[in-house]
Amino acid sequence: NNKLTLGIFGFGVVGQGLYDIIKTKNLNLAIKRFVIKHPDKKRSLPAELFTTDANAVLDDPEINTVVELIDDADAAFDIVSRALKSGKNVVSANKKMIANHLEELVNIQHQYGTSLLYEGAVCGSIPIIRNLEEYYDNELLHSVTGIFNGSSNYILSKIFNENLAYATALKQAQDLGFAETDPTLDVGGFDPKFKLAIVASHAYGLFVSPDNILNIGIDKLGAADIQFAREKNYKIKLVPTAREINDKSVILYVLPKLISPEHILYNVENEYNGVSVKAAFADEQFFYGKGAGGHPTGSAVLSDIAALRYGYRYEYKKHIGAEALAYNTDWEINV
Ligand code: HSE
Repeated sequence: NNKLTLGIFGFGVVGQGLYDIIKTKNLNLAIKRFVIKHPDKKRSLPAELFTTDANAVLDDPEINTVVELIDDADAAFDIVSRALKSGKNVVSANKKMIANHLEELVNIQHQYGTSLLYEGAVCGSIPIIRNLEEYYDNELLHSVTGIFNGSSNYILSKIFNENLAYATALKQAQDLGFAETDPTLDVGGFDPKFKLAIVASHAYGLFVSPDNILNIGIDKLGAADIQFAREKNYKIKLVPTAREINDKSVILYVLPKLISPEHILYNVENEYNGVSVKAAFADEQFFYGKGAGGHPTGSAVLSDIAALRYGYRYEYKKHIGAEALAYNTDWEINV
């Protein structure tokens, strides 16, 4: 019996997006409970579906799959680690929590024989984790880079294409549900850094603490930077990069970069994300899609839920010639 009975933590942008998708389909799965923080908020679903008690899900033996879609990374880590330890499989979209605890979460899964999937945590609807896991066997990955933060990209697009003020564009990104509750995570380059750390684990088998990765966000850009880019007919994009050097180490950083019209990222606009993977034999592939928003992210979450049905789990392979021995936090100005 591989029927999935779900307990879902959170009913925000992604939780509601996931629910919208699930209810349009006839899937062999049931949502038993949503765990929420604010019981008094008006909800579109029957009250008995909601509880504020995490134990109502975590201690329910009928619930075999936990979906974690809350904001608070510390609370999320408690929920996810407890669920994995009690034999439940977990899908999460919490990039901050995953990036900060990945190695520990991998150990817990090995110890308890459970699986944690999180495609929705990295670049919304783009299936980059699944591809890094499954497609590049026998490959050497030179680099994984691109646009990993929909909000920053939305803001930069509005500044460059519509001359909008930074604060107005940020407000729009918030109103559209793209930004984090604390938008500093987006515009400071932290959110794409968390995603980069996760990507590095699947591309290179490296578990790197986000604290050791340099991030400079778009909040550091001034009017002179925008004007300089405009005069050259460039745009500025916030670009996280993971790149191997001499088969020996991997450098990781997040920086705003000047992007010329010929560059593949030039036309990635608004909340769209793009991921460029450069491999020794396959050469460059480019993945493009919506990086934020309830339905695109909910779609990735549902794909993970479906994959749990056939026992899917991540392997964290090293796609590099030699063993990747180190990571390196140096960064280059021109890549
Ligand atoms: N705040 C994130 C973004 C949401 O703007 O990309 C998707 O992870």
